[in-house]
Amino acid sequence: MASLRPLAVIAGVGNGSGTGAAAARLFSKNGYSIALIGRSHGGDSLKKFADELNSSGGNAAPFTIQAYSPDTIKSTFAAIREHFPPSSSALTVAIYNTAFGAWKSFLDVTPEDVQESVNVNITSAFAFSREAILAFKQNEISKDTGKRGTLIFTGATASIRGNVTTSVFSAGKHAKRALSQSLAKEFGKDNIHVAHAIIDGGIITDRTRGYRKDPEWEKDLDRRLDPESIAASYLYLANQDRTAWTWELDLRPAHEKW
Ligand SMILES: NC(=O)c1ccc[n+]([C@@H]2O[C@H](COP(=O)([O-])OP(=O)(O)OC[C@H]3O[C@@H](n4cnc5c(N)ncnc54)[C@H](OP(=O)(O)O)[C@@H]3O)[C@@H](O)[C@H]2O)c1
Repeated sequence: MASLRPLAVIAGVGNGSGTGAAAARLFSKNGYSIALIGRSHGGDSLKKFADELNSSGGNAAPFTIQAYSPDTIKSTFAAIREHFPPSSSALTVAIYNTAFGAWKSFLDVTPEDVQESVNVNITSAFAFSREAILAFKQNEISKDTGKRGTLIFTGATASIRGNVTTSVFSAGKHAKRALSQSLAKEFGKDNIHVAHAIIDGGIITDRTRGYRKDPEWEKDLDRRLDPESIAASYLYLANQDRTAWTWELDLRPAHEKW
């Protein structure tokens, strides 16, 4: 175990400007090999992002998928095991950062919206958790932390509170939170740490810059959440030891109204 390099699997990397990418950069800097799971976006953005990590001394590989589904998650973990064999890598961190939302009034919600939320936020999250936990169970208990692995879910305000246009998103986020709590209770006795992070506010990413169009918010460190600061909390979760570990963390900027 001592000679195995730690491996972090991160699902939901997007264009490299959000939380998933910030977590990948930080875990890479901290000595983890990185397996990136993300959709293709019609190009090789995930490969470019892996190249970015590798050019700064990392050991990252892209696993591009067409869409999230339990079968795809299962075959992707098989591909990850081939690329990062358990004989040289120990998968010790898994982050399910992916989310699907449709922000619309309930009467405008389509069956396809609901199906996609179930697919991305629930069934694929179950499949991701299953693969991560099966891998963690192969690990020895770490001498440093007393655990075999850390599984982290990115949540949102909608994980605990529905609102007027969030039925699709909030139902999916509530489900992920419930899943994480059940897993934390079931697998704690195996020294597997499961954590859920409620991100309670707007994260600054290319996507949020695009739709908010609010330069004042972009500049305001009191009101925006930075992906790099969320990533720092994820590293903190991964480094927590078994005598005091967190199931749920909430993160918000200083001036968030809550
Ligand atoms: N942005 C915010 O203001 C905010 C606020 C609170 C909570 N959150 C949560 O924080 C997490 C990270 O979000 P982020 O904004 O920082 O961006 P992010 O890290 O890039 O992560 C979101 C990822 O979810 C995947 N995704 C997005 N739309 C999807 C769709 N329609 N179907 C399937 N997958 C989709 C994308 O991954 P791939 O394209 O790589 O597959 C995307 O990169 C998410 O779980 C989000 O719900 C965000």
